Amino acid sequence: MSLEEAKQFAARRAVDEYIKKDCIFGVGSGSTVVYAVQRLAERVETEKLKVTCIPTSFQSKQLIIKHKLTLGELETHPVIDVTIDGADEVDAEMTLIKGGGGCLLQEKIVASCSKKFVVIADYTKDSVKLGDRYKKGIPIEVVPMAYVPVQNKIQALYGGEVKLRKAVAKAGPVVTDNGNFILDWIFTDQDLRWDKVDNHLKMIPGVVETGLFVRMCEKLTLGSLKVT
Ligand code: A5P
Repeated sequence: MSLEEAKQFAARRAVDEYIKKDCIFGVGSGSTVVYAVQRLAERVETEKLKVTCIPTSFQSKQLIIKHKLTLGELETHPVIDVTIDGADEVDAEMTLIKGGGGCLLQEKIVASCSKKFVVIADYTKDSVKLGDRYKKGIPIEVVPMAYVPVQNKIQALYGGEVKLRKAVAKAGPVVTDNGNFILDWIFTDQDLRWDKVDNHLKMIPGVVETGLFVRMCEKLTLGSLKVT
């Protein structure tokens, strides 16, 4: 199975299994989610499903609009039935690294409002310990004025290297959908307690959110095998 086939397989299977009629659906971000939205659009057309879609980024909002699905927001739909989202890495305890595409803050907010949070991923994301697979580090969204002190504090607390994410098509940093910067923390200790680390990082003034998703993912649909 190719990488794209694996993404498509996971996405279609999750949509078929978890999206029911009249549900409120949190739409994740990234390349795997594209296949989930395509599948949902097919089902809405053929089964006349009524599904309200809550986006997690500019990208997912655009996907919802492009496929003529019903767009909702947390203000009117604060409780979501199911969110389906991708991940950069999933460890044996279903702790996730997310935010490779820079959308972690809205993704975590939407996931936190969801009764069920299902992750779809190809087989390259599956690991035993965080850092086995995804080598770009843990994304951390920060208020722009604080990026240097936050970088220094994380390095002093936990070691490793904390890099400001640079944009590809422009000179300068990546700016998130929320107007913030992203730091990528290349950690060296794979045996950290990620729940504690997540809480600790968020206590540093200037940190808005981290790409660590601990005990949030209930179901994982992988490209070729499924773990629950
Ligand atoms: C977006 O910022 C991310 O959290 C994505 O959900 C994650 O990077 C997975 O993306 P892919 O499905 O493109 O691998």
